[in-house]
Amino acid sequence: MLADRHDDRPSFMTNDQTTTTGDSGQRSANMQWGGRFAAGPAAIMQEINASIGFDQKLWRQDIRGSMAHAAMLAHVGIISGEDAQVIRSGLERIAAEIEEGQFTFSVALEDIHMNIEARLTERIGEAGKRLHTARSRNDQVATDFRLWIRDAIDGLDAQLADLMRALVARATDHAADPMPGFTHLQTAQPVTFGHHLLAYVEMLARDRGRLADARKRLNECPLGSAALAGTSFPIDRRMTAAALGFDRPTRNSLDAVSDRDFALEFLSAASISSMHLSRLAEEIVIWCSAPWRFVSLSDAYTTGSSIMPQKRNPDAAELVRAKVGRVMGDLIGLMTVMKGLPLAYAKDTQEDKEPVFDAAEAWTLSLAAMAGMVRDMTPNTDRMRFFAGSGFATATDLADYLVRALHLPFRTAHHVTGRLVAKAEAKGIDLAELSLEEMREEEPAIGEDVFSVLTVDASIASRRSEGGTAPENVAQQAAWWRDQLKETA
Ligand code: ARG
Repeated sequence: MLADRHDDRPSFMTNDQTTTTGDSGQRSANMQWGGRFAAGPAAIMQEINASIGFDQKLWRQDIRGSMAHAAMLAHVGIISGEDAQVIRSGLERIAAEIEEGQFTFSVALEDIHMNIEARLTERIGEAGKRLHTARSRNDQVATDFRLWIRDAIDGLDAQLADLMRALVARATDHAADPMPGFTHLQTAQPVTFGHHLLAYVEMLARDRGRLADARKRLNECPLGSAALAGTSFPIDRRMTAAALGFDRPTRNSLDAVSDRDFALEFLSAASISSMHLSRLAEEIVIWCSAPWRFVSLSDAYTTGSSIMPQKRNPDAAELVRAKVGRVMGDLIGLMTVMKGLPLAYAKDTQEDKEPVFDAAEAWTLSLAAMAGMVRDMTPNTDRMRFFAGSGFATATDLADYLVRALHLPFRTAHHVTGRLVAKAEAKGIDLAELSLEEMREEEPAIGEDVFSVLTVDASIASRRSEGGTAPENVAQQAAWWRDQLKETA
């Protein structure tokens, strides 16, 4: 969806139509706006000015926008129905050319908008020259870019849902398998592996919410704002807005041509979500490490070392962990471009596209890799269970027992438990390995039933509070998510 096979083909670009021969050579003016220009741009001017190297990604959206614009111009009588028809079929043929790799993108024509318009005029003549009536590249690019990001949002939302489904499936299988729960990465209390995985499902659900929210605000159509002030032609902005799937036209033409909040909101959602993926990636890296061995990844998601034959490196997880760096950089980069820009359009905003394309690609790749790893990984449930019960992980259960069974105030129970932990630690044994006598030295009322609360299974089973880790809770939550994520075909 985000891939475009022309992206990395600067060799496709030529300097035809306008020739630039350096600072002293003969140059001819741009055919689209060159009326008052006697000569063409300096080579370096052309190089810094042109965006075709990256904005060719917008070709589909540009053609869609032009088709809607032409149909509207004909509808209100600004151009003839015949011209609109010729424009439409011309644009269809150009789309086919680009699709087939037959289109020559020209740096001299600066950007995707002028490349397509020039080719249209080349193919259909006069009618092509009428297309730009009541429109400017300023409202055109704002429209195209919104359409591109909207498509990207829809694709990413589907990927987020897919990753959530993968996590929910694993959580369902491991709803009752204990693992050590951590705070400060120190063993805290036993939790279930399913519960741990569902924590990421919650994060990803919020990521989808942010995308949905951004999409709602993005979905207004700038087309018809023209350069900045609107137009003197009797255009119908509601018609173009509806044709392009927007909820309504934007209200203020100055804002519409200069606003890039929709790109920033997209980048912000991308940053937060990539941060979530980075956290899960880091856990996978830790879990795969030899001293842990909580999960293993197959050959499909690991690489070997050229020198150490025993190595199985979780490179994909490491790269997902790292991608957030560039995504956050993309957000800060565009934020900084927008800072201090006066109204209305300024060429600075041409710098909006690369960060968005870059972040979308990194996010898409990370989501796909993460979904693959989640489906691929094999949890070592015995090992997780073993560590869930070590490190005095059930100390809180003992304190809770003293409160529940002996009615000690919690602070007192905490203190007694602390002394028992110290006692076990000094002997190099676990809490459950202390004898009843040893326990009674600290609290005489402790009964034989204390041992039943010190097991890992009793511990997780007891965490039945709403949102807690008890296997029955986790199974219920997983079932609820499965229902939420049911594919509606
Ligand atoms: N390539 C430009 C961009 O991405 C299109 C708009 C140019 N408008 C202008 N008046 N020069 O922003």
